[in-house]
Amino acid sequence: MAVERTLVIVKPDAVKKNAVGDIVRILQENDLKLLAIKMVHLTKEQAKKFYIVHKERPFYDELTDFMSSGPCVPMVLEGENAIARVREIIGATDPAKAAEGTIRKKYGTDVGRNAVHASDSPESAAYEIPFFFNQLEIHDQY
Ligand code: TYD
Repeated sequence: MAVERTLVIVKPDAVKKNAVGDIVRILQENDLKLLAIKMVHLTKEQAKKFYIVHKERPFYDELTDFMSSGPCVPMVLEGENAIARVREIIGATDPAKAAEGTIRKKYGTDVGRNAVHASDSPESAAYEIPFFFNQLEIHDQY
């Protein structure tokens, strides 16, 4: 099993619910090391760029409106098999279908406002981490 880095975003709905602390705690308690974290309010254009892979999907406009509707909290986490493990911890895209105990089950509202984003592959993580963080903002020496 390889040590991987993944990008998680606490989306604007979960920031409004004051869920940032709980979500960071859940991830850290699962042996994921927090390497970087910040709060940002994306513009519509920045949200479109971040989600460029979904540009042909019917929900692209709604998704990018939502992601630019308020501040969000991106973070970088590192651990064994981190990409797949974080996807399990957050649960299914639709909170109504997410397993008990997952972050989306706890904090998601619907398929659009589903509380968190997490990289779904090494290729996604390689695009998404430098989208938000430069080298100086990623701390693995502690
Ligand atoms: P997707 O990559 O399918 O899900 P995931 O976030 O679990 O990797 O979709 C990206 C985001 O797009 C998803 O988190 C919420 C939004 N979305 C909708 O608004 N409506 C939809 O029908 C789907 C599938 C996704």
